[in-house]
Amino acid sequence: MNIWLAEHSGFCFGVRRAIQMAREAASQGIPVCTLGEIIHNPIIVAQLQAEGIDVCEDPSTLWDHTVILRSHGVTKDMMDSLIRNGNKIVDATCPYVRRAQQLVESMSAAGYQVIIMGDADHPEVIGMLSWGNAATKVLKADERPDLTGGQQFCLISQTTEKPEHLAEMVKWLAPRVAELRVFNTICLATQHRQEASERLARKLDRVIVIGGLKSSNTRQLHNLCSQYSRCYQIESEAELKPEWIKDVSAVGLAAGASTPAETIVAVYNQIKQINGEPNRVTAVGEIPLFKEESC
Ligand code: F3S
Repeated sequence: MNIWLAEHSGFCFGVRRAIQMAREAASQGIPVCTLGEIIHNPIIVAQLQAEGIDVCEDPSTLWDHTVILRSHGVTKDMMDSLIRNGNKIVDATCPYVRRAQQLVESMSAAGYQVIIMGDADHPEVIGMLSWGNAATKVLKADERPDLTGGQQFCLISQTTEKPEHLAEMVKWLAPRVAELRVFNTICLATQHRQEASERLARKLDRVIVIGGLKSSNTRQLHNLCSQYSRCYQIESEAELKPEWIKDVSAVGLAAGASTPAETIVAVYNQIKQINGEPNRVTAVGEIPLFKEESC
């Protein structure tokens, strides 16, 4: 059986950076905690807890701690509360997310009605919204804004939004308002991962998506791959069912931005074991990457 891994699978730059910053802070021998789970992956959260990096939920209860802000960023209120309580902040907000927050803040202050396109319940968007003002709104990709509030609009998107959704919103808005400023805050890591996973799913009729069940980018990958292939999402190799990969000659693997390389390796090796094949890998770089010419 051939097993191919979609290109750009696994940790993105922002997640890798956040975990590294957390480990560096903990290595100084001081008690540290992350505000919320650093990434939506229970394996990594448990590993970090074993290294002394706890998860705290309520910033108002933290005093004189070293607090790591996760890559999704936090709300302005949370930041203010942490500073007020004398905490030391290790800001691991992904620079791409921070740029979006700064744009929301500066464009709101400049008098624009800022529209954030994205999922209003996602922590990244909740954080972005908090840097705006009362006129700042969050809209889903298929919603359209009420234009009675003003004539100067600014469109900013969640980093994981699809470029075509942004383009559709611009097309709708541009002819209807006097002024529109658009900032493309979509992160290319997400776009590249989705495109590579789609290429894989279009060619293979069995795809395993690896990643935390709470991870929205992993869920998006699962939804995307399910359009073209029979697709299963798992958090770890223990959830892999032999019947999923029975009678197929090739299996594709794709992994979200919060999936560690060790889990991808473990899933690959578990498939090999289920098939009774001897060769195992020890690093993600040893797994063949899927290319169009792979099959
Ligand atoms: Fe940052 Fe993009 Fe990852 S916004 S956290 S590099 S998916």
